[in-house]
Amino acid sequence: MKQRLQKILAGAGVGSRRACEQLIREGRVRVNGITVTKLGSGADPAADTIIVDGERITTEKKIYLMLHKPPGYVCSRSDESDRPTVYDLLMPVSQRLFTIGRLDRDAEGLILLTNDGDFALRAAHPRGKVGKIYQVYFKGQLSSQGRKGLERGIVLDGKRTLPAKILSAKRFRDGGVMAIEIREGKKRQVKRMFLAVGCPVQRLRRVAIGNLTLGDLRPGKYRFLAQWELDKIFTQRP
Ligand code: URA
Repeated sequence: MKQRLQKILAGAGVGSRRACEQLIREGRVRVNGITVTKLGSGADPAADTIIVDGERITTEKKIYLMLHKPPGYVCSRSDESDRPTVYDLLMPVSQRLFTIGRLDRDAEGLILLTNDGDFALRAAHPRGKVGKIYQVYFKGQLSSQGRKGLERGIVLDGKRTLPAKILSAKRFRDGGVMAIEIREGKKRQVKRMFLAVGCPVQRLRRVAIGNLTLGDLRPGKYRFLAQWELDKIFTQRP
């Protein structure tokens, strides 16, 4: 059955739908030996030979898993400084999987991986659809003004972040721990938000994406997700 080329590529785990559109535009996709650069083009994944950057695409079974990333691992597939990557933890299933969003090297907690580009695009929606909960250990004393600032949004890169929800907070002598839900994924967002209110982050752990929680999955371990668990990602918390 004919489908749009970018949909086939995303479905085959090449990347998000947007990334696949870019590959087509760049002339890196060939169908039955002919380079295709028009976005609306269709192909039949069962009958046509589709090649991206010289590699044949196969429509494979969709895989979804959650990993408890320990600190010290990068989310990229290969690291120029040869630091450990999350893919080292996923042997032998790491083939063609990619992370949905990223966690910094020193951050830990819940990260999702899949070979389903469409799903990844939906789950990583940049503005507001899926909340992510972080447990944040920070230094310094958070003022009530700082707390309000986090809740209302902090200006980062010239734009205010979406309002965040503080779910719990505890003070220590020189710092505290807070559970906070944010709805975007700007680079180093949580660290930059806390820095902006004078409280540098010491430890950052993601504990939930939507209503899907890390639970008792141990650091460095992963498990496959069932459909009903995937649905939890998109259900709103009250
Ligand atoms: N915010 C950060 O600052 N770092 C992460 O890894 C995730 C969210």
